[in-house]
Amino acid sequence: MGSSKKNKDIHFICLDELMRKKILVTGGSGFIGTNFIRHVLNVQPDWYLVNLDLLTYAGNPHNFHDITPEMKKRLRFVRGDVRDAALLAQLFSEANFDCVVHFAAESHVDRSILGPKAFLETNVHGTFTVLGESLAHWENKGRPEEFRFLHISTDEVYGSLGPQGYFTEETPYNPSSPYSASKAASDHFVKAYFHTYNLPAIITNCSNNYGPFQFPEKLIPLMILNIIERDRLPVYGDGKNIRDWLYVIDHCEAVLKVIERGTPGNTYNIGGNSERENIDIVHLLCDHIDKRLGRSGKETSRQLIQFVSDRPGHDRRYAIDSTKIQRELGWSPRFRFEEAIEITIDWYLENMDWVNSVRSGECRKWIEENYGDRGKKYSSIGIKRNNSM
Ligand code: NAD
Ligand code: TYD
Repeated sequence: MGSSKKNKDIHFICLDELMRKKILVTGGSGFIGTNFIRHVLNVQPDWYLVNLDLLTYAGNPHNFHDITPEMKKRLRFVRGDVRDAALLAQLFSEANFDCVVHFAAESHVDRSILGPKAFLETNVHGTFTVLGESLAHWENKGRPEEFRFLHISTDEVYGSLGPQGYFTEETPYNPSSPYSASKAASDHFVKAYFHTYNLPAIITNCSNNYGPFQFPEKLIPLMILNIIERDRLPVYGDGKNIRDWLYVIDHCEAVLKVIERGTPGNTYNIGGNSERENIDIVHLLCDHIDKRLGRSGKETSRQLIQFVSDRPGHDRRYAIDSTKIQRELGWSPRFRFEEAIEITIDWYLENMDWVNSVRSGECRKWIEENYGDRGKKYSSIGIKRNNSM
């Protein structure tokens, strides 16, 4: 990790001391971070944002190319690592942040199975470092009451549900994958910093998001693009695993509510109240895109579906009870799944340039490695793990 002094990638755009809120967003060039920043720039004209992102394979530096010149003045991009304490200290001293929204993470379960170490590094060590520098900043500022550390986490920390029941904020942690284990560990550090040092930290545990700018390794964008390109559609196991889908803008609105009204030391579960089996999602995407592209008969996309070996440790069902955030903060999802999935499909159809830009050599290699010979990867000789990834 390079120190901040050596960091030559800081792009200073504008620091406006008159802004009402100054927010450090980590991982703001990834899927949810991008949507969050774009949303905040639109709805909070007196907020100033610094986006700290390492630009791993999942981060795209061009996600803000089309924002207005006025918005550009309220957004600064810093390429850097959340594990770089010196860089974080420098950013805190420059901007006197009121809030940290910590999105940066390794986020893909399949990648965590193949290379768990990166998840330990970024999700645990990274969160630990951001927490430490946030605490130092908060204490130096005289512990202002309005400061917030918001940790963006996942419902996957709770493990797998059977056919009945929902995850509440009281559900015991029971992570199954290296990804969810690393997110669970980071959540525990956040809780410890609240209890031990009183850092005004809040955790949100959200269900699966979908929408524009999602890297095409996750179920929905992967299937959309494979359908468009008439590639095979790999459905894991029997395809009956269930996720509770939330449109990303609904998630962004929930995060805003938590920043403005959330109580430190609390966890808020965020869900879409929209459970679907994977196979139903794939069918729906096939049918919508076929209609959009005028495909029929032998050309219909359902024929591309291939059931492949299951993901090891594959959680069967996630479903969120979001009563608490609805009752206490007045948030509920605005988008219906049927409506927002069409917005998402249209976005991918209209933004193939973006798709091509994120499909770097690394991405193509990953897709080949995963889907070139899927049966082999999860064969009885075990998973190829690369602990040095
Ligand atoms: P993503 O993989 O699309 O983006 C992650 C971003 O973090 C990328 O821009 C990447 O460059 C950056 N990053 C990675 N390592 C970094 C490092 N060491 N330093 C600085 N930046 C780094 O992820 P996402 O889907 O946008 O998820 C964002 C957060 O939300 C994650 O913490 C994830 O666990 C959580 N979450 C995601 C979902 C979902 O459905 N995508 C659901 C619930 C919670
Ligand atoms: P994913 O988008 O990776 O999110 P998560 O594992 O964090 O929930 O996967 C969503 C569901 O889709 C999950 O049950 C695994 C399944 N899946 C497939 O069946 N095929 C695929 O190619 C992918 C990426 C996921």
